[in-house]
Amino acid sequence: MKFSELGLNDALLKAIKRSGFEETTPIQAETIPLALQGKDVIGQAQTGTGKTAAFGLPILQNLDKKSKTIQAVIIEPTRELAIQTQEELFRLGRDEKARVQVVYGGADIGRQIKSLKNHVPEILVGTPGRLLDHLKRKTIDLTNVNTVVLDEADEMLDMGFIQDIESILNYAKNRKQVLLFSATMPKPILKIGEKFMHDPEIVKIKAKELTADLIDQYFVRAKEAEKFDIMCRLIDVQIPDLAVVFGRTKRRVDELTRGLQARGYNAAGIHGDLSQARRMSVLKRFKEGKLDILVATDVAARGLDISGVTHVYNYDIPQDPDSYVHRIGRTGRAGKNGMSVTFVTPNEIGYMRTIEQLTKKKMSPLRPPTDDQALRGQLKQAKSQIEDILKDDLSKYEDEANELLENYSALDLVAAFLKNLSKDASDVKVKITPEKPLPYKGNGRRGGRGRGGHGHGHGNRRGNYNNHRRRNRGHDRDGIRGKRNRGERRGSSSHDFVIKNKKD
Ligand SMILES: Nc1ncnc2c1ncn2[C@@H]1O[C@H](COP(=O)(O)OP(=O)(O)O)[C@@H](O)[C@H]1O
Ligand SMILES: [Mg+2]
Repeated sequence: MKFSELGLNDALLKAIKRSGFEETTPIQAETIPLALQGKDVIGQAQTGTGKTAAFGLPILQNLDKKSKTIQAVIIEPTRELAIQTQEELFRLGRDEKARVQVVYGGADIGRQIKSLKNHVPEILVGTPGRLLDHLKRKTIDLTNVNTVVLDEADEMLDMGFIQDIESILNYAKNRKQVLLFSATMPKPILKIGEKFMHDPEIVKIKAKELTADLIDQYFVRAKEAEKFDIMCRLIDVQIPDLAVVFGRTKRRVDELTRGLQARGYNAAGIHGDLSQARRMSVLKRFKEGKLDILVATDVAARGLDISGVTHVYNYDIPQDPDSYVHRIGRTGRAGKNGMSVTFVTPNEIGYMRTIEQLTKKKMSPLRPPTDDQALRGQLKQAKSQIEDILKDDLSKYEDEANELLENYSALDLVAAFLKNLSKDASDVKVKITPEKPLPYKGNGRRGGRGRGGHGHGHGNRRGNYNNHRRRNRGHDRDGIRGKRNRGERRGSSSHDFVIKNKKD
C-alpha cells in the first residue's frame, strides 16, 4: 500500500519520502488507519516491521500545534529503544517542527528537568522508571495526553515493568487512545489491553510475511573446536557487507571479537557488561559502516535496528527458538534479502529441530569452505580494493613506483600488493574457550519449559540504531579502507594469538 492512500498530511508524506520508505509495511497498512480514527489498537508484528512509524505517523498527524502540552507519551523498555524512537519521530515530524523529547534512566535528571521546562514537548518518549520519576517530581504533566503508546510490550513484560506502566497510565487520566505494539503477544499483555483499552482492534501480522522468507537459513555441522576457523573461512567466501555474529555468553563475545580482530577483521563486540557509552559508540560505528562485523549476545542485540545487515552468524545456536527468530531478524529487514548461518555441534541437533518447528522452515546444510576457497575470497576482495585505489589520484606515488619497477618485475610487485591486502591470516591461531554444551535434547521436542519466550531473565538491553548507513567502504581518502587494516597485522602474525580468559 502507498503511504499517500492513508490520508496523511503533505509534511508527513514528504518526511516518509525522505526516509526512503516506498510502501507501507503490513502492520502500518492495517494499524495507521485505525489509529488515525482514534481507535485503541493492539498491533503484533515481528521486530523490524516498522511499528514505530505505525504509531508515530498517526500521533504526528493528530498533534495540536497550538497546545503547548504533552499530547502523546510513548513508553519503551530500554534507553536505546527510547532514543531510537525519539529519533525516528523527530525525523518524521521535522517539517512540522514537532517537539519530541526523550527521557531515560542513567542520564542526568537535572538536565532533563531543565530541558523539559524550557521546551515542553508535544511527544514524550521514555523508559518506565524515568517517566515515573519525573511524574513523582511533577516535572512532567500528562493530564493533556491524548495517546499513550506501550511499545515493545513483550519486552516490558519481560523486564518486569507492568506495574510501572499501569502507574503511568493512571497519570495520563484524560487519555483518549492507547496503542500497544509488540512482537509477541503473551497473555499478561492482552490483560493490560483488557484493563486499559476500550474495545481495542487487534491487528496481527504473521511472522513469515516479512522476515523468514527473505532470509536464506543455513546450518553448518561442526565440532566446538572447529567453529572459529570455519566461521572465518565463511566470512572470507561470503564477503558480508555487514555481519552480526552471535555468541552465547559475554566471554564468548569478548573472545570472538578479539579473535576476529587478530585475524584482521574489522570487528567489535557488545554485551551487557559494557558501559552504555561504549555500546552506543560500537553501534554507531557499525551503523556508519566503519565496522564490518558486530559480535553480540542476545541481550545486547535485541530489537537492534540496523539496516543493511547481510549476514547473521550464530556462532552458538540459541537454546531458545524465539531468540533464533530475533537473531536472524537482524537481517532481511524491510524487504531486503539476508542470510543466516547457524553452527550446530553434534549434540545440538535437537535444538535445531525445535527451531525449525517454530519457523516452519528447514535450514539448508552448508559445507564449510576449504582454505583455498577462503583464500580465493580474500583475493577477490583484495582485487576490488586495488580497483578502488586505482580510482584515486596516485601521482605522488609515481617516483617510488618507478624505483620499485626498476628493481622488480611488475608481476612480483602486484603479487606482493595482493598478498599484503588479502592478509592470509588463517595461520594466526585463535583459541576460543569451549562453552559448556547445551544439555542434550532428544529429537527436538521442547523440554520442560513451556513456550518459554519470557522470563528467562535477559536483564535486557536492546541496542538500537537506525538505518541510513552510508556505505563508503573503500573510498576513504586516507586509505583506511574497510578491511585493509588486516594487512597491517601481518607483521605480528608470526606470533600465535591465543585469547586469555580474563575471568575464568
Ligand atoms: N514502510 C517502510 N519501508 C521501509 N523501511 C521502513 C518502513 N517503515 C519503517 N521502516 C524502517 O524499518 C526499520 C525498522 O523499523 P522499526 O519501527 O524499528 O521496527 P519494529 O519496531 O517493528 O521492530 C527502521 O529503520 C525504519 O525506519
Ligand atoms: Mg519497535
